[in-house]
Amino acid sequence: MLGVATDIVVVHDDAFKPGPVVSALAGHFAVRKEGLDSVLGEGASSAHLYIFCASLSSDTAFRRVQKAIKGRESENLFVLPTHNSDAISRLRGLGIDDFLVLPIDPAELRALAKAAINRCVERSWATLHPTKQKALKKSLACFQNCFAMVQNGEPLPIEEISAACQSVREAAELGGLDSWIDALSDHHDYSFRHSMFVCGSLTYFANAIGIGGADLDQLTVGGLLHDIGKSQVPLEVLDKPGKLDAGEWKIMRMHPEHSRTILLREKGLDPDTFDMAVHHHEKLDGTGYPDGLAGAQISDHVRLMAIADVYSALIDKRSYKEAMSHEAALDLMLKFEGHLDMDLLSAFRGFVLDKG
Ligand SMILES: [Fe+2]
Ligand SMILES: [Fe+2]
Repeated sequence: MLGVATDIVVVHDDAFKPGPVVSALAGHFAVRKEGLDSVLGEGASSAHLYIFCASLSSDTAFRRVQKAIKGRESENLFVLPTHNSDAISRLRGLGIDDFLVLPIDPAELRALAKAAINRCVERSWATLHPTKQKALKKSLACFQNCFAMVQNGEPLPIEEISAACQSVREAAELGGLDSWIDALSDHHDYSFRHSMFVCGSLTYFANAIGIGGADLDQLTVGGLLHDIGKSQVPLEVLDKPGKLDAGEWKIMRMHPEHSRTILLREKGLDPDTFDMAVHHHEKLDGTGYPDGLAGAQISDHVRLMAIADVYSALIDKRSYKEAMSHEAALDLMLKFEGHLDMDLLSAFRGFVLDKG
């Protein structure tokens, strides 16, 4: 489950130098380059997306690419060296209308690649228990809707959030946090992935230790919405393929303030959801942000949220860091005294390592 798997294999024929394609993707995705012969060979590797850089100008070249595609579950994209009408009609013959021609627009290629990888990941949910599938699909639609509505200045879709969170709670009743994390870990909508790591960790944990009723509802909704303020953070900071510099960190650290502004507008929002979203970066010793709360000013739900948030960040992979194992993440968190609640961490650690 952990470690950096290949997102994309860039497949090229002998005449096509795929440098511009690879460099447009590098840093944003885990990319590997392979010759067409190697992909056609025995034991070829797998990835969510194959990008074929090939001329397709002859039937022979086209048949080789067709053979490489056949039987794969992955998504395919095509980059042609020139605007060749024979190649284009061959692709259209396969029902493929999406292709790029050199010179490529790197941002367009990345957007197409991200969408294709996400389609592949979302399709893989079909192998899960129907209750988990439903929870993932509903939470994806709900999360994307929440971000879009906030960005449009519209109120949050409270009923949709409730329904999505109910489906996450139903999934948590089945147990198996590992499979929830696995199903999300290759998704390239980073904010969705992170928020649902947090939401799932909190819900599965709370469910396993017998928390129910309003407390469970609050933890699930709090997890889904905890970083809603990130909808106001520019994408170049949010999705930066590397570590943030000091100025970018300053922008990123504004997200709890953005959450405060967004959630204050919501009439009838549970105050606990507000507290979790605004205060999950506070630390018990008072050195956190945005309000510098300390000790008893930080509620148990916020303390749990902080644990789930740090844990979810550590076990997640980014383009600039590998995922940590559950054990290594929880061991590291034991050193965060003054930041995290050690009694709650001990309970959470017991749940995760027991494979709840
Ligand atoms: Fe946050
Ligand atoms: Fe977070």
